[in-house]
Amino acid sequence: MAGESTSGVEFIKQAVAGSNRFVTGIALLAALGGFLFGYDTGIIGQALPFIQKQFHASTFASSWIVASLLIGAIVGAALSGYLSEKISRKWTKCLSGCVYVIGALASAFAQDVTWLIAARFVLGLSVGTASFVAPEYIAEQTPPKIRGGTVTFNQLMVTLGILVAYIAGYGLSHLTDNWRWMLGIAAAPGALLAISMIFVPHSPRWLVKQGRKDEARKVLQRTRADDHDVDEEIDDIAEVTDKESNWGLRDLFGPRVRPLMVVGIALAVFQQFVGVNTVIYFATTILKYTGETTNSAVMLAVFVGVTNFVVTVIAMLLLDWVGRRALLINGTIVLTIALFLLGCYFYFPALSHGAPWVGLVALIVFIIGFALGLGPVFWLMISEIYPLQFRSQAMAVATICNWAANFIVSYFFLQETEAIGKGATFWIYGVLGIAALAFFWFKVPETKHRRLEEIEREIGGEELAEAVDSE
Ligand code: BGC
Repeated sequence: MAGESTSGVEFIKQAVAGSNRFVTGIALLAALGGFLFGYDTGIIGQALPFIQKQFHASTFASSWIVASLLIGAIVGAALSGYLSEKISRKWTKCLSGCVYVIGALASAFAQDVTWLIAARFVLGLSVGTASFVAPEYIAEQTPPKIRGGTVTFNQLMVTLGILVAYIAGYGLSHLTDNWRWMLGIAAAPGALLAISMIFVPHSPRWLVKQGRKDEARKVLQRTRADDHDVDEEIDDIAEVTDKESNWGLRDLFGPRVRPLMVVGIALAVFQQFVGVNTVIYFATTILKYTGETTNSAVMLAVFVGVTNFVVTVIAMLLLDWVGRRALLINGTIVLTIALFLLGCYFYFPALSHGAPWVGLVALIVFIIGFALGLGPVFWLMISEIYPLQFRSQAMAVATICNWAANFIVSYFFLQETEAIGKGATFWIYGVLGIAALAFFWFKVPETKHRRLEEIEREIGGEELAEAVDSE
């Protein structure tokens, strides 16, 4: 429940407390999925300029090299709901690690653009799966008190993955075959994920659903405090999973639940439509537009990665204190201002020629706004606003929409900058930032320290709250 979850300081205190150490360890291993998601997001922008040079890739081909992973991720996210039920969360994550290793090595050995596009599609299957199953598995293993924190922790690992990718991009850029190394070394954390998943326990929730209550009890005895009533929790899980089976995809879009779905999907789409991944994928390219050489642009991108990571840590500490809504709204204001600044920077030649540092400052301000608000808040809110009965399905829909929106923005970015110019492209994102702001202001409720029923009443009215209560 929303009111039970925590993040920030309390989470850190709880996570290192004796009884939670085992579960924190499991969460760390599982969050390797988030790390891989981030590494991949961060590395392609670093590798792209070198790939373009070697294969003489056109803008169209380059867009597909970036976007094929996203198509794979949409498919992966869609499949993961089914797989995580069928073969378990644990084995889905193990499989995702194996597929990642295959995709990373296949990318590293690519002989032409088509091969690389196909390899990145395979990689996408793994990344999309991880983006859904990692938070799901972590949330199910952790006691409710630290659940909010562990979900945000996954986002932190995403930003760490991006940062490591930027550093690897810089460190490896001097090697021959640099881009092959950049794409290939990701096989190592992929293998670590696959191997470590063999040793972690199944999710107790999945075990109860399979009727394997004794095994679920054993897992809960290891992951919960000594004085915790394990049997009561098993009964609760059984009750919720029973209700859950009464909810189908059609109910998700029925009149009762629609308002909640609209909030989750809007957060998913706006998270991408403000152009975050054009900044993450194309940080190097954008910095090159500002007149930097490829190597120094790769180095400057590291600053963007460090800022993203550090500000996500700060957001984690602030989420429970100032609340999700305040961070979301203020963060979106900051990033929207940065988008208009980037637009002006590219539109007015005097600015880009006379003051190249303005481009870097605008990128940093943008990432500060994103990491404070939309970055962590989207993933956290979709784990908080839905009643348990249909949380998995609803989160899967939001995750798929997030990848689809990511695809649309990333695929069109390079072509858009060629067709209408870089300035106008960033202004469009800025206008979408204003639209996001208006939506958040009027439609997104505060979820900090609130009971789920109150949130449902605010978004969906009495009718939804009563329907969910009586299911
Ligand atoms: C988004 C990713 C993005 C990352 C940047 C995540 O919340 O879903 O698309 O690359 O944040 O930190």
